[in-house]
Amino acid sequence: MATPSIRILGTGAHAPTRVLTNAELSAKIETSDEWIVTRSGIRERRVAGPEEATSDMAVAAARAALADAGIAASEIDLLVLATVTPDLTMPASACSVQHKLGLPHTTACFDLSAACSGFVYGLDTAAAMVQSGRYKRALLIGSEKLSTIIDWSDRTTCVLFGDGAAAVVLGPSDASGAGLIDVKLGAYGDSLDLLYVPKGGSTHPPTAESIAAGDHFIKMKGKELFKLAVRAMAETARDILAKNGLTSDDIGLIIPHQANQRIIEAVAKQLQLPLERFFVNVDRYGNTSAASIPIAIDEARRSGRIRPGDVTLLVAFGAGLTYGSALVRW
Ligand code: ACO
Repeated sequence: MATPSIRILGTGAHAPTRVLTNAELSAKIETSDEWIVTRSGIRERRVAGPEEATSDMAVAAARAALADAGIAASEIDLLVLATVTPDLTMPASACSVQHKLGLPHTTACFDLSAACSGFVYGLDTAAAMVQSGRYKRALLIGSEKLSTIIDWSDRTTCVLFGDGAAAVVLGPSDASGAGLIDVKLGAYGDSLDLLYVPKGGSTHPPTAESIAAGDHFIKMKGKELFKLAVRAMAETARDILAKNGLTSDDIGLIIPHQANQRIIEAVAKQLQLPLERFFVNVDRYGNTSAASIPIAIDEARRSGRIRPGDVTLLVAFGAGLTYGSALVRW
């Protein structure tokens, strides 16, 4: 197992105040609390209002992470924002976050698009950049306003997603041995159509017809996605453990992408691990894509489920179809 050279110095999260319950959804579309809870484990999700953009949630999460790390915003020289719901198609929302946080213009800023795996992809990217010695401290943020790309009349998708943000501050490791041990990333680019927004990009620029047809909203093939998600998450978890000479006994907590309780249960079964070893908060947030893993990390730390010295396994899967895993010692 490698000695970490980069570690997480602090974490923070932000959830919009508006809670949207299954009961409220059931009043608007043909669904029920019972159906949603049985199929997904989701009981409620957060929804940001028009006054709160992806960058605003990112800023709130970043401030919390900086405070937790005891690091001033001026010490950050790299800002990576993982999102599939940027404020604008162009430029990167990371630049807006930089401005709102008052970071110096010498900060490198970019968005990273890897959907629900965005945080794990961002962890590898930001850590490598700090490890290069060219950057000292990075802010890695996952922030999503998925409510803006959801068709609220489509019951097969709208019940599953939510809004939120979370951030971590990354910097060089100290003598404690805490830090990022390893990351493994991959993608099944042959399965783009299992989860995607069909129009609005350069292949199909928006037209009045595409807007009227709802082609700017998420489309999903739920059953196929479910199977591939379980297979890819279990595989990448096994791979990263084997590569580092670890077994699941060495892992304190597994933090999976919070897409669906049943996906998490199926991954636990494949790995022959009890569900108690997995952190689950999908019941309160739904699927917040790139924000899901860092929100879970922040909650797990603050609730004492991650203790100093623990090794945590992060496992992600998302549109692309991207996947990835990471090992972090605290
Ligand atoms: N309320 C009530 N009924 C519904 C709803 C709803 N919200 N949505 C679908 N149904 C109906 C369907 O229309 C279908 O009716 P029919 O049999 O009359 O056609 C019936 O319920 C059963 O639908 P299925 O698709 O068979 O339900 P399934 O058990 O597969 O569960 C689900 C659907 C929850 C979407 C499941 O396939 C799943 O979890 N897929 C993974 C999706 C996911 O998590 N996506 C997140 C993004 S991926 C990621 O982040 C990694």
